[in-house]
Amino acid sequence: MMEITVVRGDITTQRVDAVVNAANRAMRGGGGVDGAIHRAGGPAVLADCVARFPRGLDTGAAGWTTAGEMPARWVIHVVGPNYTAGERDRSLLLSCYTRALEVADELGASSVAFPLVSAGVYGWPKDDAIAAALETLRASATEVTEARIVAFDAATYDDVLAATRS
Ligand code: AR6
Repeated sequence: MMEITVVRGDITTQRVDAVVNAANRAMRGGGGVDGAIHRAGGPAVLADCVARFPRGLDTGAAGWTTAGEMPARWVIHVVGPNYTAGERDRSLLLSCYTRALEVADELGASSVAFPLVSAGVYGWPKDDAIAAALETLRASATEVTEARIVAFDAATYDDVLAATRS
């Protein structure tokens, strides 16, 4: 049985087995949580991205690299749909969470920290990004014991907590 927990903070400092990155298809770093993960993990993260994803990653897909210097052991990269650019197929957003848990199971990761995929630069409406995360995590069959949603700011933390109680 997987427990869904919510914390406010920076995903890069979480003491979990794997942190999930909201990456882009090129898989060579970027802004937002992606930039923070590459900065905190150090150059080993990019080197592993280049080695393991020479052609990048598809929207809705997931893959892993080392977490470099972060406390976590692995980064599970997912590519959310870019709502702002017109990618509005919700199943691609749900797929990010499903596939991330599948990768976690392959790795044997028990605790996994998630950002709100697509809810930043990619512009997915926040309330629906939260609903998508929760409904997918709740419905997934997985060996992961803790899925920790990491909210970067206080307002988002309150929104996620409220959603977990409804
Ligand atoms: N810890 C936890 N959450 C964070 C952190 C952090 N350190 N930093 C930001 N967030 P975003 P996307 C939150 O933009 O929308 C990048 O350039 C943020 O407040 O990181 O999927 C990539 O390279 C928001 O709630 O990801 C892609 O090109 C959530 O994480 C593109 O942005 C996701 O925001 C991906 O856009």
